[in-house]
Amino acid sequence: MTAPRHFLEVDDLDANELLTVLDLARLPDPPPVLAGKGVALLFEKPSARTRNSTEVAVFELGGHPVTMRGEEVGIDTRETAEDLTRTLACFHIAIAARVFDHAHLERMAAVSSVPVVNLLSDRGHPCQALADLLTLHDRWGSFEGRTLAWVGDGNNVCQSLIRAAALTGMRVQVATPDGYAPDPAGAAVLTHDPAEAVKGADAVFTDTWASMGQEDEAAARRTAFAGFTVDDALMAQAKADALFLHCLPAHRGEEVVPSVLDGPQSVVWPEAENRLHAIRGLFLFLFGTA
Ligand code: CP
Ligand code: NVA
Repeated sequence: MTAPRHFLEVDDLDANELLTVLDLARLPDPPPVLAGKGVALLFEKPSARTRNSTEVAVFELGGHPVTMRGEEVGIDTRETAEDLTRTLACFHIAIAARVFDHAHLERMAAVSSVPVVNLLSDRGHPCQALADLLTLHDRWGSFEGRTLAWVGDGNNVCQSLIRAAALTGMRVQVATPDGYAPDPAGAAVLTHDPAEAVKGADAVFTDTWASMGQEDEAAARRTAFAGFTVDDALMAQAKADALFLHCLPAHRGEEVVPSVLDGPQSVVWPEAENRLHAIRGLFLFLFGTA
């Protein structure tokens, strides 16, 4: 039996495979490659976009999604991550999970006979990065010579974006407060000055200052991130036609002001819609288009 193809991070795909997934995301009349199959979707944290886009993608490809909340299955409390994975693999063609601890995904992948897909962990959000690349590619037609800026927390979404940019040959400039830099930062250029990060940028990204699981730190983070709000003055220092992206959910008045999030440079709604096309493209890649 060949080993299953997992997608725990963007760079589990090589550069050509990544472009193939983006092409497949736009395939008209996708074939029902999941016909008669189940896909297990496990969520240890809340979700609107990821759950809905993944469930609909599975349905569009002829499959049946089974969504579970973490407390229903109890990873490492009711049974081990390994036993849960072996069980789900009896019923499903793939297992997709949103977890607090990325190590759980690695343990699941290590024993799984079917692909394991990361729907967000403390370390990365690769399905979001696919949708973000698709959004940029739709606008630009290619990634060549482009510069991305990230302003705010060097979090899971930032870390996957850095990997995605490396695979597609884009430069990334990241501004975070001291102590909040992405780790690993890869080839990203790091600064503590938002203006420096957005200089020359073709797209400006941000995300919440307190990710799921960091709610207790929210007040301290609001203080630490003062000066890191993406506002009109900051956008004016990027390229004149720079796009604004945010994975959502957004906190208007914290990491971004309403006039940017809801303004003419924002592509957050196509970005949200592209979560569906991107995950459908990934499933078509994993399970063949024949
Ligand atoms: N962007 C994103 O992953 O949104 P959800 O947390 O609502 O799934
Ligand atoms: N960084 C955020 C992303 C939410 C989609 C979080 O992990 O909560």
